[in-house]
Amino acid sequence: MAEKNGQIKMVLDKDYRLSEVDERIFGSFIEHLGRAVYDGIYQPGNPNSDEMGFRTDVIDLVKELNVPIVRYPGGNFVSGFRWEDSVGPRDKRPERLDLAWRSTESNQIGIGEFSKWAKKADSSVMMAVNLGTRGIQDACNLLEYCNHPSGTRYSDMRVANGDKDPYGIKVWCLGNEMDGPWQVGHKTMDEYGRLAAETAKAMKLIDPSVELVSCGSSNIQMPTFPQWEATTLEHTYDYVDYVSMHNYYGNRSGDSNDYLAQSDDMDSFIKTVISTCDFVKAKKRGKKDINLSFDEWNVWFHSDEADADTMDNHPWQHHPALLEDVYNFEDALVVGLLLITLLKHADRVKMACLAQLVNVIAPIMTDKNGGKAWRQTIYFPFMHASKYGRGTVLVPSLHSTKHDTKEHGEVTDVESVSVYNEEKKELTILAVNRTLDKNVEFSADIRSFGDSKLIEHLVLENSDLKAVNSSSDEKVAPSTSNETKVDGGEVTSVLHPASWNVIRISLV
Ligand code: AHR
Repeated sequence: MAEKNGQIKMVLDKDYRLSEVDERIFGSFIEHLGRAVYDGIYQPGNPNSDEMGFRTDVIDLVKELNVPIVRYPGGNFVSGFRWEDSVGPRDKRPERLDLAWRSTESNQIGIGEFSKWAKKADSSVMMAVNLGTRGIQDACNLLEYCNHPSGTRYSDMRVANGDKDPYGIKVWCLGNEMDGPWQVGHKTMDEYGRLAAETAKAMKLIDPSVELVSCGSSNIQMPTFPQWEATTLEHTYDYVDYVSMHNYYGNRSGDSNDYLAQSDDMDSFIKTVISTCDFVKAKKRGKKDINLSFDEWNVWFHSDEADADTMDNHPWQHHPALLEDVYNFEDALVVGLLLITLLKHADRVKMACLAQLVNVIAPIMTDKNGGKAWRQTIYFPFMHASKYGRGTVLVPSLHSTKHDTKEHGEVTDVESVSVYNEEKKELTILAVNRTLDKNVEFSADIRSFGDSKLIEHLVLENSDLKAVNSSSDEKVAPSTSNETKVDGGEVTSVLHPASWNVIRISLV
């Protein structure tokens, strides 16, 4: 039974704009890990696969999510990756030990194939270079292979491998989670800062149009956070454009009320990294802002035990099932809350990658043994935000009632962000009622937009927080609410307890 109602009131003004949304905030990630590549995007012989062995049913689902950029090939994997193993004639490509995931890598998919897959999925590649076991020269060779037209050793190698046109990869990550002791080639902040700066300098000499991402901390709990960002950026400030952020969330304590407050942790993580970037800018008397690439975020905790068993007791398999979290309804709410938090910082968070995309902590799953592709619960908030959350984020003037949590103290009942799409003449309000027991009366003053009418109010709700989807049963899927009115410049509705809401308004 719902307790006393909560309330959220907001005023949205078309002239109070926070920032354009960089569409790359709806990016994702495919790592050579588990069944993401093999059995995920690539499965020759599957009836749904095309002439290159790519699963078209998976591509269709990726397209529905509208993912403009996909990070590749890792992740931890990249820190031991020898890229040249994965190009050229397939029968000559070596099998290698992947130390990050204690698996065997067949190298049947490499940058050539992946850049073609990205095109088929209407996306682009965000490439990471190996700064774990390799360094400046290797990063330059890979960039030359990918982006230089021809007439040099590595560009001609690409041409000889059948790809006359350069891949034109714009965004490059300078290594991955180099602060983490688990990382092959883990470095201190000064070691990484120097290496990243010199690598970035050389890469920009080869192709000045590339955008470079310096590694930030692996998560907010790292003992070196945020000193890592401050020290490494002091080395890299002149050469890089973004600092990376990674963080995963999960209901480890079993307290759902607290779990739904974890987006507040993401919010304070982002604020601290912005302050640190601005501190370095000030110290350097710099002119440019370092923006944020939150290039790994998601819920990840369900599969922890199974993964430890596979890697410790059954290592060196080809694409074993790893990180196959099956997401429930409350995970979808958290993903919705995290999306709202990212969009609320659209002025500084320019790129973000839902980690990951297929089979590995993913919105899209493929059943083992060539079975169906299907949508996890978290698929839907991502799809809604990516489809309707493009445009300009409005500055919210917002009052929400609050409730108590064990770990996070008092938090807002509702988290929300609004995006104005001037071109489409649409306003979208994304909101999560993160109480477990209160209906929240919602009202938004949108008079500044003039005439307006409701397109639809999409809702994701379920009486069971632990409900999951499978290939045969989509228990958690969006429906439409009929409790919303747009009248005289006011939007009114009721947001049900534990619900994800997308209120779409046409500005006629
Ligand atoms: O996304 C899974 C792993 O999480 C990535 O390989 C690594 O960067 C992070 O620790």
